[in-house]
Amino acid sequence: MIFAANLKCNHTRASFELYLKALNETLGTHNNNIFVFPPSVAFSQKESFFTQGTQNFYPCINGAFTGELGKEHLDEFGIKCVLIGHSERRIYENEVLIKAKFDFAKKQGWQIFLCIGEDLRTKQEGKTKDFLKKQLENLDLAYEKLIIAYEPIYSIGTGVSAKNEDIGEILDFLHTLTKAPLLYGGSVNENNIKEILKINHCGGVLVGSAALKVENFITLIKGSK
Ligand code: PGA
Repeated sequence: MIFAANLKCNHTRASFELYLKALNETLGTHNNNIFVFPPSVAFSQKESFFTQGTQNFYPCINGAFTGELGKEHLDEFGIKCVLIGHSERRIYENEVLIKAKFDFAKKQGWQIFLCIGEDLRTKQEGKTKDFLKKQLENLDLAYEKLIIAYEPIYSIGTGVSAKNEDIGEILDFLHTLTKAPLLYGGSVNENNIKEILKINHCGGVLVGSAALKVENFITLIKGSK
């Protein structure tokens, strides 16, 4: 099972050091796949048992792209794992940029966590599958280092996860399009994790709020069995 923490715009260099220390000390021998996406200013160069990823990057090595983060910057921290298409970034990024990021990451051989998900209106109109198919259009779904996180927007940060039967239906659908591991994300917490991980084709979770405090993330991982 994959457990990924998206820390979003939370944690500083100092607080992430403590986060990392606690994770290493508590779960150092854990045999699950753990990924953590801190803000870029908090990237760590310390050895860890889990994989550190970036929440964002620009598809360049370096160059005249004010405010952006290129491959050169990720290399300094040994980062080869990227989050692409999170709904909180899709507000600023169109499909052209998302595809450019995907293709660039693939060219580098990076692990890609691709987030997709519909809003409540799309769901209510019964258009979820068409919408998700469109989000996946033109992306190489056979890329061997691809992980797809299904994150319905209405469940992100709301404290209410999607219904398990809805998640199951969508993961079944996604499985017909790709053999990439499929994650669920959206208000995953220590109370609902067990049932979510039992859903057919669910290969793990992408967690925001319930991973902000390291002790909560640890409890969630430990309590997932
Ligand atoms: P949440 O965030 O767990 O707070 O809903 C998930 C995410 O945005 O990936």
